[in-house]
Amino acid sequence: DFTGHASVWVFGYGSLIYKADFPYLQRRPAHIEGWSRRFWQGSHDHRGTPAAPGRVVTIIPEAGAVCHGMAYLITPEVFGHLDYREKNGYLRVAVEMAFDDVEGDAAEGVVYVAREDNEAFLGEASEEEIARHIARSAGPSGPNSDYLTHLALALRELGKHDAHVFAIEQYLVELIASRT
Ligand code: BEZ
Repeated sequence: DFTGHASVWVFGYGSLIYKADFPYLQRRPAHIEGWSRRFWQGSHDHRGTPAAPGRVVTIIPEAGAVCHGMAYLITPEVFGHLDYREKNGYLRVAVEMAFDDVEGDAAEGVVYVAREDNEAFLGEASEEEIARHIARSAGPSGPNSDYLTHLALALRELGKHDAHVFAIEQYLVELIASRT
């Protein structure tokens, strides 16, 4: 509950990096420590359907890992919009984020995490299998492959390498090439 807070930092590591369809006060590249981004969450409302869920990212606790993304300073009312957009198993978790634009600058905030105990969680698979899964999935927000390519492009534009995301993207490129 953020009653009494004028504004709150939210750390985005998935579609929030490239799609900010809500009002915000500030937007800054940032990272969080101890978490790694993984295509382990099922999406039955955006990039798949209940019968054939797509695969989208969540973050998994991992000692020593760093997850790069984008931080937004928002008013508490904007959470209503975000909670709706990020339904499908995600919970808000408190996190400390470090900003990449000012050395040493950090803030407390929240991040949306889909834990393995949520109904839509799919879990680990090889990066090649994840690419195959993404290649065949689509939902109301569009093809699952668009989500992957938008995320990979956004990370590249941020200058942040993500071995997991880029490996899946490479498998997807190869899959598409092998079909044409
Ligand atoms: C994110 O970009 O941080 C995000 C997007 C959708 C669901 C959860 C998190």
